[in-house]
Amino acid sequence: MSVGTEISVEQLEADPYPIYKQLRAEEPVCFVDSVGLWLVTLWDDVQHVDKSPDVFTGETEPSTLRRTFGANLLASEGAYHSRIRNIIYPWFRVGAIGDYPDNVIAPIANELVDGFADHGGCDLVSEFAEPLSARVLKRALGLSFVEEGTLRRWFVELATGAANFEGDPEKQAIADAASAEVNETLAPVVERLEREPDDTLLSSMVHTEVDGERLTREEIQSNLKVMIVGGLQATTDLIALSMWAILSHPEQLEEVRADPKLVDPAIEEAARWHSPVGTSTRQTTRDVELGGVKLEQGALVAAVLASANHDERNWSEPERYDIHRREGSHLAFATGPHLCIGARLARYETRTAWRVLLDRLPRLRLDPERPIEISGWEFRSPHHLHVQWS
Ligand code: HEM
Repeated sequence: MSVGTEISVEQLEADPYPIYKQLRAEEPVCFVDSVGLWLVTLWDDVQHVDKSPDVFTGETEPSTLRRTFGANLLASEGAYHSRIRNIIYPWFRVGAIGDYPDNVIAPIANELVDGFADHGGCDLVSEFAEPLSARVLKRALGLSFVEEGTLRRWFVELATGAANFEGDPEKQAIADAASAEVNETLAPVVERLEREPDDTLLSSMVHTEVDGERLTREEIQSNLKVMIVGGLQATTDLIALSMWAILSHPEQLEEVRADPKLVDPAIEEAARWHSPVGTSTRQTTRDVELGGVKLEQGALVAAVLASANHDERNWSEPERYDIHRREGSHLAFATGPHLCIGARLARYETRTAWRVLLDRLPRLRLDPERPIEISGWEFRSPHHLHVQWS
């Protein structure tokens, strides 16, 4: 009997890593009944899925992403995907956002720390990572005037539609209402930006022309919604998970304090160790064999990035958090044509968060009375991260 018949959603949500380990050993391409997906768990196979969009397409049918956002880059492939990505990508270059760490992110991070520095302790998720990620994203996108709570509500409601695989009309109505609200909010802003460009991603989407191509009004709306859903929670999670990783390894924290050059490898290792985004979801365009298993055309496949990042064939002692690991890059931002477009911004945010927290909170440490709780497999989030300092 297949291992996949015995895996429950609850088990995956609670802690998917032991399940991935079993799947890698026993059935690396496995249909898991409870989630209705083929889970692909080996490093080589995950790479292959992400890098073969002609066979494993992001343009799934039906598509919860297209249904909720409209045509967008994450749910498209080929010439259409390249056109959208080429127009959006320039805003994410160093030349465009290289000043973000000092001029945008650090001031927000410092302001947040000002609010709790003399309390001696806080929840780094709700008091720091969440508001930092929301404020930077608002500034970056060009939605500074939107309330933080509104942005978070849009995220939750749009994500409800993106995850509505069962086609529940009530869930879809929630997502559609949020989608209409975003469109209404954007309309006057886009009109203003047409006349008065600024340095935001929204303005760049309005004005960038590549090979004579621009985005339509609908494409601006749909791709901005993808940025809200892709950019808010995952960045919060990476900031919190990476802080937890280093704080739960105090001897490695001391090394980082002594040598700030270790900050970047320590964050990359945290993204490998506990990846905020667990999977790339794809659909087969034809019958195909993967890892000796026959997949029929139309099969839904989750290439499990989090499992690839723990594959013993690629990493030595993958369960260990080791800031000195030099075994190549991880897959937390995926690979291939859909490689995360916001990775640079997310890295800037996380590095700046570390710099500000370590500089400003002496003897920062975990609160031993309130250990972290983490859940989720497609998106892995800490519910809170209680810390103390002196
Ligand atoms: C730590 C934070 C982040 C993580 C771990 C992450 C992870 C990922 C992953 C794994 C993918 C590929 C999904 C797939 O293959 O199906 C992806 C794509 C994407 N991400 Fe991120 N992301 C993060 C932050 C951001 C930010 C800050 C933004 C935007 C402001 C963003 C926007 C996007 C977009 C638009 C795509 C689709 C790219 C395409 O289809 O060409 N992400 N992200």
